[in-house]
Amino acid sequence: MSLFDHAFDLDRDAAVVTGAGNGIGRAVALALVGEGVRTVFADINAEKAAAAAAGAANPALAHAWTGDLADRAECDRLLADARKQLGLVTLFVHSASPPRLEQDHLLSVSDETWARMRAVNLDAGFHLGREIARSLIAEKSPGSMLYLTSLHAETPRNLPHYSSSKAGMAILVKEFARTLGRYAIRVNALVPGAIAAGGFVADPALARHIPLGRLGQADDLAAMALAVLSNRIGGYVTGTSIVVDGGLALTNWFDPPELD
Ligand SMILES: NC(=O)c1ccc[n+]([C@@H]2O[C@H](COP(=O)([O-])OP(=O)(O)OC[C@H]3O[C@@H](n4cnc5c(N)ncnc54)[C@H](O)[C@@H]3O)[C@@H](O)[C@H]2O)c1
Repeated sequence: MSLFDHAFDLDRDAAVVTGAGNGIGRAVALALVGEGVRTVFADINAEKAAAAAAGAANPALAHAWTGDLADRAECDRLLADARKQLGLVTLFVHSASPPRLEQDHLLSVSDETWARMRAVNLDAGFHLGREIARSLIAEKSPGSMLYLTSLHAETPRNLPHYSSSKAGMAILVKEFARTLGRYAIRVNALVPGAIAAGGFVADPALARHIPLGRLGQADDLAAMALAVLSNRIGGYVTGTSIVVDGGLALTNWFDPPELD
């Protein structure tokens, strides 16, 4: 049997993907359904979540869910609805993130924008991941989680609310992995480079800084996400950050922000 056959246990595995209405989250959720995994597509945008789920290879396996994950009660509703729809959630992907706008630099970002970025990226990531882990532990089931972080967890992005929340997620992944390894729950970060995926409108000229010579696509991330989520392929991988950037991390192209 090929290593790539039966990457997932289709009787047991079920997934929740946040930010599945667009970009990388959508590509990962669609890829999971393509492998036969029952998947909840969670997003704040009802239309996008529904369209993404409807576009899945097998729409019967794809369940759209709408809610604002900046709100703790909505996170709990997602957990309850996913449990009802799928049973035990064994795979969790946290890709949701509020828009990053260039005008929100260090001297201008509002308290509200700061708090919202943190609430979705870090607070929801912590709460959802911990609750899913608690259920897995209670049922003695292995599981796998993937957090979309950023190269800007380590280098400035001129968006301090974004970079600091991604840095928080990066260490959270290590905390989760260290504690949860004993329960066969693996937790990793997936680090996109410049991915022309909706959340980031890249200048095509950026390609000259990328050793592989092109911007990334959401599907570049989806393939690696499946490999890491799969216990058959990524079963000995936990607590690490997997960079999918065509080599962009070898440079840093951002100038300091223009101040008013
Ligand atoms: N695209 C890139 O180049 C890039 C680079 C580095 C990191 N990332 C990270 O990868 C992830 C996906 O990026 P993308 O470009 O696909 O983003 P995107 O903006 O295209 O998609 C993010 C999705 O999250 C949803 N969302 C936003 N706020 C939400 C909330 N409060 N509750 C529920 N859903 C919410 C949005 O509606 C959207 O569908 C993000 O975490 C992002 O930070 C992306």
